[in-house]
Amino acid sequence: MAKKFRKIGVLTSGGDAPGMNAAIRAIARSAIDDGLEVVGIKGGYSGLIHNELIELSARSVSNIVYTGGSFLFTDRCPEFKTPEGIAKAIETCKKNEIDAIVAIGGDGTFRGATDLTNHGIPTIGVTGTIDNDITATDYAVGFDTAMNTALNAIDCIHDTIESHARCMVVEVMGRNCGQIALNVGIAAGATAVVIPEIKFDLEACIEKILKMKENGKRSHIIVVAEGVFNPDGTHFSESLVKIIEERTGIETKFDRLGYIVRGGKPTLRDRLAASRMGDMAVKLLLAGESNKVICEINSQIVPVDINYALVLDRMYKNTLKDGDLDRFTPEEIGSMKATCAIRSANIKKLYDLSLEMAK
Ligand code: ADP
Ligand code: F6P
Repeated sequence: MAKKFRKIGVLTSGGDAPGMNAAIRAIARSAIDDGLEVVGIKGGYSGLIHNELIELSARSVSNIVYTGGSFLFTDRCPEFKTPEGIAKAIETCKKNEIDAIVAIGGDGTFRGATDLTNHGIPTIGVTGTIDNDITATDYAVGFDTAMNTALNAIDCIHDTIESHARCMVVEVMGRNCGQIALNVGIAAGATAVVIPEIKFDLEACIEKILKMKENGKRSHIIVVAEGVFNPDGTHFSESLVKIIEERTGIETKFDRLGYIVRGGKPTLRDRLAASRMGDMAVKLLLAGESNKVICEINSQIVPVDINYALVLDRMYKNTLKDGDLDRFTPEEIGSMKATCAIRSANIKKLYDLSLEMAK
């Protein structure tokens, strides 16, 4: 029998992502439609610790569906990871009669969501991160907008480098994941893409640039993911500039797109995903479910068990801890391995396409 809820809380946590506001709006409106009260928790888990809440109504979430950032603010809150922090958060829930929470963010946010569930506050996660680095979901809210913002910026860069016959190394965000760089690189017509997932062949790249130059190509874009480092810990993107200039004789400049890629008006894709995911999160809570993360798999919006999602993520990132797989059946472990293999194969396919398209 599903638990009777009266009030739910919603928060955004970790790095903000365009579309988070559309998710907040969807959660609020869906919950209000089902007769619930809704409070916004300000500044992620920090707002839960410090009792910073705001009542949300259908009207108060008006005109945010098209805005970037997080209307509720967000934070990285180390205190929440401590027993004292979680105790204060639970206290806030009790004091304000918050029965359940929807947490929008990435894998760190979902670890926090599990802690809340384990302490008696049913919590559901909604995937929101520009990096699209949550293995359980094909798609996270914010990814499309971030890619389009980066693409528009690179199109602008293209105008100027073509005029000057230059090469531009463009670094894009993505933490340890190359998804933004890879997709944007293909769409921008980059000469090369450098991502953490696939070993970069520098010699082949130099050879290709020289050949393209010989064939009359004036300008080159090299898109590098921020998560590619030199052995000494410096960003590979910065060192690549000098190498290309010295080895090809082409004047080469550097541009780090940085935080620009994280802001801005969410695209239709992100607003829609956010609305569907937010709505499903509320419906699941009302059906008595918790500790799930809302994912998009093969274009369907589906819930995935958070513990499964977190272990799957560690499997993909080769960071499994002792005992991680103990609670899963052989079928579940097989399914995790298959998901990791598909994800890697998809990245490899796109990478091969990026090589093939650069001529
Ligand atoms: P993201 O959710 O985008 O991955 P972070 O990794 O920064 O971002 O996590 C966001 C917040 O989630 C953290 O600041 C912290 O409050 C909470 N969090 C992260 N990891 C844990 C954890 N292991 N246990 C509990 N809470 C966590
Ligand atoms: O996770 C989103 C993201 O923008 C990453 O792409 C980037 O590495 C990181 O957050 C930057 O975090 P911060 O805002 O803490 O500098």
